[in-house]
Amino acid sequence: MTLGVGIIGAGVMGADHARVLAQSVGGARLVAVADADRDRAAQVASANDALRTHADGTALIADSDVDAVLVASPDATHAPLVLACLAAGKPVLCEKPLAPTAAECGAVIEAETRLGRRLVQVGFMRRFDPAYAAMRTSVAAGEIGTAMMLHCVHHNAKAPAFFEPGMIVTNAAVHEIDVARWLLGEEIARVTTFGANPDRMLLVMESASGVLIDVALYMNATYGYDVRAELVGSRASLSRAPADPATRRADAAQATALATDWRAHFEAAYRLQLQAWIRSIRTGAPAGASAWDGYAATAVAEACLRASASGRREPVDLPLAPPLYHQR
Ligand SMILES: NC(=O)c1ccc[n+]([C@@H]2O[C@H](COP(=O)([O-])OP(=O)(O)OC[C@H]3O[C@@H](n4cnc5c(N)ncnc54)[C@H](O)[C@@H]3O)[C@@H](O)[C@H]2O)c1
Repeated sequence: MTLGVGIIGAGVMGADHARVLAQSVGGARLVAVADADRDRAAQVASANDALRTHADGTALIADSDVDAVLVASPDATHAPLVLACLAAGKPVLCEKPLAPTAAECGAVIEAETRLGRRLVQVGFMRRFDPAYAAMRTSVAAGEIGTAMMLHCVHHNAKAPAFFEPGMIVTNAAVHEIDVARWLLGEEIARVTTFGANPDRMLLVMESASGVLIDVALYMNATYGYDVRAELVGSRASLSRAPADPATRRADAAQATALATDWRAHFEAAYRLQLQAWIRSIRTGAPAGASAWDGYAATAVAEACLRASASGRREPVDLPLAPPLYHQR
């Protein structure tokens, strides 16, 4: 059986997910696209042979041809749409963040727990990036000894048009927050932030066991899209290499190409994430980041916002108990 997928939000990410789903993922087809801008929905639907468009996400979720939903609309719309998917009993892959506030993420966890099965996957696609995945395999195999420090760089060439103050953590740093939790296999306990400019921040996180994680965020770095990570252990260090390692040598210099944005840089990760999502629906074996992971990442982001306001080191509050499925 081919799964019918509906995409809500036909902007930069929705259009890219639609293309990847149509061209590179087996076992599923795009059947419907919803966007507040009906022309944009029509363009993405016709470019990828979808059956129809909807003006709003709720109508798409109710569409009987839609078996599973991908949410790629703005952050503030995520939680209500994911809750509507849960109410309809439909699996949902929600772009990050699960929601901008931990309270909204908590409502999703409670709804999913009431349902008694895991239907939510959060689009922390770096978990599917081959280089990050290789790092995690090495860490889990004990190859670095004990984790000591994680150094991260997250530079965008240009901040997205929708960027507002605070999104540097709730929308951007959540990727590093999730990667840190996932690589280290533990929660973040405390955070400190530095910098008063909305597009630049140095973030220091401390894991529950005391691993130090530093993240340099710069949303308007102009020179290209640049994401790096180095995990230092008691016996070895692991680095995430650039996505395109081809090196050009000319004029007595050598250069490695950089992507201009996340779509090219993490091309494999987005494709593998979609494949894993479709496979997980078909097999019933969950994949990727869960609603709990979305909640924990946003709770750390909220602690960062508190740290920015107070100028102090702030603890991370995780008042909810992890659902049964959250087993490491
Ligand atoms: N995983 C990643 O690496 C990654 C990268 C970029 C963006 N994102 C996430 O993807 C989401 C979309 O980002 P984008 O860059 O595509 O934004 P975008 O502004 O390009 O697209 C958003 C689209 O949603 C539509 N829209 C707005 N309100 C809507 C509603 N209520 N219902 C349906 N459609 C609505 C807009 O008309 C627009 O077409 C965001 O949540 C963002 O955080 C994730």
